Amino acid sequence: MRCIVTGGAGFLGSYLTEQLVMMGHSVVVIDDMFRGKKKNLEGCKGMDGYYLVMGDAANRANYEKAADKLGGVDCVYHLAAINGTRWFHERPDFVIQVNLDTLRVALDFSITRGARFVFTSSPEAFGEQPEMPLTNESNSLFSPAAKHGRHSYGASKYLGEIMVQHAVSNSSLDARIVRPFNAYGPRLPGDAYGQVTGIFLEKCHKGTPITIHGDGSQTRSFTWVEEAVEGIRLAGELEVGIDGSNLAGAAFNLGNTEEVSIADLANLCLEITGSDSEIYHQEVGHPGDSRRRKPDISESERVLGWTPNQSLEHGLRSCWRWLQAEE
Ligand SMILES: NC(=O)c1ccc[n+]([C@@H]2O[C@H](COP(=O)([O-])OP(=O)(O)OC[C@H]3O[C@@H](n4cnc5c(N)ncnc54)[C@H](O)[C@@H]3O)[C@@H](O)[C@H]2O)c1
Repeated sequence: MRCIVTGGAGFLGSYLTEQLVMMGHSVVVIDDMFRGKKKNLEGCKGMDGYYLVMGDAANRANYEKAADKLGGVDCVYHLAAINGTRWFHERPDFVIQVNLDTLRVALDFSITRGARFVFTSSPEAFGEQPEMPLTNESNSLFSPAAKHGRHSYGASKYLGEIMVQHAVSNSSLDARIVRPFNAYGPRLPGDAYGQVTGIFLEKCHKGTPITIHGDGSQTRSFTWVEEAVEGIRLAGELEVGIDGSNLAGAAFNLGNTEEVSIADLANLCLEITGSDSEIYHQEVGHPGDSRRRKPDISESERVLGWTPNQSLEHGLRSCWRWLQAEE
């Protein structure tokens, strides 16, 4: 396939680009390097069929340039977005603008070119829905907008899913939706704008305190990056589901079904790294954080043939080795 990966220099995008190139596909990455890094794509440099366009995924000209490089386009994997919880609170306006503007342009381009489309949504599209596991039938639940900007991200993904479903119903677009659940692995940012596993391991590395919001009983479903990305890749590669189903408008949860509390994650990080970082409980965390996040993956298993197997401990050990080698 001739593929465009928007946000391909980011965490998930760089693994996806690697996997696609390894599978023999041609890939042009479009990334403006807001949070992406050229270093993330070092493994692809010089490989046949890989090219980087540095630019805005809300600018149609960058897609035309990518398609020229590829000699046409078969599939657009849309990952470009503002991710990282701190941004959702500090710049909700920017999060909404980038997440929806890039999607609109990527969708329009795919419709006019007849390319297949994969939209990376998120379990945050369900907001604070307390009932688990999350399925395609779950309702989205967001707290009042006046309270905080947290749901700028989740709501942008929710609206994004509506835009994609509308395009599927009103054009010949063949679009699929994927929702990765807390993907983690080497390259995950561990700075203040990063995600929890990256942040905890970074603290262990520096020997500085690990901050847990509240009592740490809130859970997440941590998913090994290569497995999450395998699901994203399959969602774009498969002509039809392995059960023969039509994939236009299909949505897939890509997450480990083992729920892990944030307190247990912190303790596991300490155990694996042997760090003497202290655990510090902060009464008030990020408002709007969901209490639990557990996916129903029966659709992904049945239709994509996708099941995650990697244990959290094994994955964290790989992250730790990577972090130490980064010095
Ligand atoms: N990491 C996860 O666990 C997770 C979970 C659910 C959904 N997602 C979604 O998957 C996608 C990738 O997430 P990630 O964790 O790799 O985040 P990331 O921040 O590492 O990757 C996003 C990439 O998009 C790029 N980008 C941002 N604005 C852009 C613009 N205007 N034009 C071009 N590129 C732009 C950034 O530079 C970055 O490289 C995002 O859409 C995210 O919402 C990720």
